[in-house]
Amino acid sequence: MKVIIMGYGRMGREIEKILQERGHQIISRVDPGGFGDELTPSEESLTAADAVIEFALPLGIEKNTALYSQFDLKAVIGTTGWTDRKETVLKPFENGKGACLYGSNFSIGAHLFFRLTEAASKMINKVEEYDIMLTEYHHNKKVDAPSGTALTAANLVLKNMDRKKEILPGNPQGAIKPEQLHVASIRGGHIPGIHTITMDSPADSLEISHNARNRSGFALGAVMAAEWLLKDKSGIYTVDDFISDLLD
Ligand SMILES: NC(=O)c1ccc[n+]([C@@H]2O[C@H](COP(=O)([O-])OP(=O)(O)OC[C@H]3O[C@@H](n4cnc5c(N)ncnc54)[C@H](O)[C@@H]3O)[C@@H](O)[C@H]2O)c1
Repeated sequence: MKVIIMGYGRMGREIEKILQERGHQIISRVDPGGFGDELTPSEESLTAADAVIEFALPLGIEKNTALYSQFDLKAVIGTTGWTDRKETVLKPFENGKGACLYGSNFSIGAHLFFRLTEAASKMINKVEEYDIMLTEYHHNKKVDAPSGTALTAANLVLKNMDRKKEILPGNPQGAIKPEQLHVASIRGGHIPGIHTITMDSPADSLEISHNARNRSGFALGAVMAAEWLLKDKSGIYTVDDFISDLLD
């Protein structure tokens, strides 16, 4: 694949490594901050590329998607913070030119964790002896708690377990109610993200844990998603479409 890397920040550099490892050709690194090869994508680059992987900032993303469609590119968009403008941002792909795949979490490991959480919740729903809880660890600079990943997993538990009805974040004040799902957030150090579902009975305990070592999991998922789009896809997809095709 011939790829434009749009946004050459922390994620752009991870994407670059994975593209090189998988034998793809990088046409241009584009970044208005002056860190890449071009400040904006040139017509030459847009014509030469067959895919673009964007992990940038959401301001002005409409201009990017219009260009991607105009030049018939397969676009993977990992940039977050624009879904309130979804209609305008994705509109260019409605005319059948180019293809777009977007999502807020491209980590295949995180999606495996969601699938395993869903399957485990369905099973222990049938065995009343087991209670279930969730912990997540992140570095001391993370601003949101619980994390988005923890909330996605917690909502999967609620959806699949009749006896759990609500998420209890933070530190409980006294005993928790049986219908509450405790989601504990621990902050400190440099941890990129550990999410663990614990299932506990009087006799034993089981854990499903996802431990992200760095950002490369997001980059691998995004590059694999671009490879997937290149297989004759046109129109608009979410990361779930790609993951379902990969795992189901
Ligand atoms: N979907 C996922 O799985 C996932 C994972 C990690 C990060 N992200 C998102 O990816 C984006 C980038 O994250 P990061 O950690 O690399 O940030 P970063 O700040 O390290 O890098 C962003 C880069 O984009 C550049 N940029 C800004 N506007 C641009 C534009 N219009 N076109 C091209 N480049 C532009 C900036 O100059 C900067 O170098 C953020 O939106 C972040 O939330 C998504």
